[in-house]
Amino acid sequence: MIKRALSGITPSGSNLHIGNYFGAVKQQIELQNSIDQTLYFVADLHALTTVHDKEQLQNNIRNVVLDYLALGVDPEKSIFFRQSDVPQHCELSVILANYISFSHMQRMHAYKDKLANDSEADINMGLFNYPILMAADILLYQPDGVPVGEDQKQHVELTRDIAQNFNKRYGSEILKLPEPLISKTLGKIIGTDGVRKMSKSLGNVIGIFDSEEIIRKQIFSCFTDPNRIKATDPGKVEGNPVFIFHDLLNQNQEEVDDLKARYIKGSVGDVEVKEKLLKAHLTYFQPFREKRKELEKNNKLLENILRQGAQRAQNLASETLNKVEEAIGLTKVFN
Ligand code: TYM
Repeated sequence: MIKRALSGITPSGSNLHIGNYFGAVKQQIELQNSIDQTLYFVADLHALTTVHDKEQLQNNIRNVVLDYLALGVDPEKSIFFRQSDVPQHCELSVILANYISFSHMQRMHAYKDKLANDSEADINMGLFNYPILMAADILLYQPDGVPVGEDQKQHVELTRDIAQNFNKRYGSEILKLPEPLISKTLGKIIGTDGVRKMSKSLGNVIGIFDSEEIIRKQIFSCFTDPNRIKATDPGKVEGNPVFIFHDLLNQNQEEVDDLKARYIKGSVGDVEVKEKLLKAHLTYFQPFREKRKELEKNNKLLENILRQGAQRAQNLASETLNKVEEAIGLTKVFN
């Protein structure tokens, strides 16, 4: 039984997209309402691997805080905080780096993907060490489960390896091994290109809180069945991104069934399918968009939420850090 869950989002782009929502955040909100304790945070230190502009970073952080709260993170039910407000993340990260090998770190996807396109000279050490900071993010709070999308699976596995190496040396009860909580069906939401996972850096996203104009553009850029040239050609629904998105967003099942049936027959055009997808998107997220507008006006409230969250997170984090420091010999040298 999962009792405590923790997860985070990196403010590396401006707004969250529907891949983030259906792949991770939705599950996180459900857990918030069903298990003992949930902790969610904005991983701002992680964003430094790519964002080196002060204003952009501040904007990104602000946007992700607003998005996360608008999507349903409730600071009364969850501990909601900003990573850099809790210095224990950095401290534990420095410690944990000593319990994993360089060659193991070279096998991490984020590093390997970057290496496939850039030279080593263009890869900063923050990116290379990123999974160790993520292990610290997790292990500090001893969660049973980490609700994330499929792309984070390797990071949770690394976290378990680091914890295991540490425990083997210092005692099996010190760091709890977390389970990745990944939805089998929604763990990897496809992008508008219909090929790769939806991702900020690939530019194949459908936003949640962007303007209607931008969301329209994103939806209308969406790939459909590549073999269907005219609206009268019979089309394929399975694996077709517009229909994958309809299944996620459109709450009018009758309409979805009708569109699919007509698409298969060749009696509906892409424009109608996409127009209806846009409408479904705006309907689905309307309450969240309204909540976000309210929150935007209330800087004081946001500041208070983060301050309180940081305090509660620090209390838990310092317990684990003390335990770790005690185990490895960093405390009480002259007692
Ligand atoms: P990030 O910010 O890239 O993504 C946030 C969450 O959204 C999920 N996700 C997806 N799920 C399904 N389909 C997609 N196309 C898709 N795109 C994104 C991600 O899997 C993630 O759950 N390293 C993390 C942030 C982090 C973290 C942590 C998470 C830092 N420390 C500790 C958990 C625990 C990241 O960059 O996620």
